[in-house]
Amino acid sequence: MFQCTCAPVMPKKIKMFNKIAELHKICFPHKPWGANEFRDLKKSGCEIVASDNGFIVWRTVLDESEIITVGVHPDARGAGIATAMLGIMENEVKKAGAKKIFLEVSTENAPAINLYKKCGFGQNGLRPKYYDGTDAILMVKDI
Ligand SMILES: CC(C)(COP(=O)(O)OP(=O)(O)OC[C@H]1O[C@@H](n2cnc3c(N)ncnc32)[C@H](O)[C@@H]1OP(=O)(O)O)[C@@H](O)C(=O)NCCC(=O)NCCS
Repeated sequence: MFQCTCAPVMPKKIKMFNKIAELHKICFPHKPWGANEFRDLKKSGCEIVASDNGFIVWRTVLDESEIITVGVHPDARGAGIATAMLGIMENEVKKAGAKKIFLEVSTENAPAINLYKKCGFGQNGLRPKYYDGTDAILMVKDI
């Protein structure tokens, strides 16, 4: 199902939320989110960009944006998809007036930490035991 790389779109229909939930479960098997959670995030003002291979969700409040979740199908990793989605997000939030992007990432998630550093994020703090006993690094990028 997730074999082709489609152009990312902003989902509006439940069918697309189902696909994102399926992909989220593959990326985060220990804490999957359902289609309704993605639909509720969208309804609550979050933006979602997704393709067959990846998704990114963010929220912008005034001049600050926060990455809520990002994931790429394991078969499609290492090909620049997350980097591309972060680029799309950055363009969108700039247009919405954001000046900074924040995120939290587990200290044990080296691929994601490397991704964010490569995309220009720097460490801005530490949240002890944020994820079930694991610390989170707070990262920020000025845009
Ligand atoms: C983190 C994740 C989104 C990266 O997606 P991706 O499409 O493979 O990332 P990219 O191909 O754009 O890689 C960009 C950079 O990230 C880093 N990176 C990606 N995968 C890596 C790995 N397995 N090990 C170390 N660094 C890695 C590298 O710096 C890479 O740059 P390079 O290719 O020039 O070395 C993906 O591994 C994933 O979905 N993981 C599970 C979900 C998750 O942890 N999400 C983040 C939660 S905060």
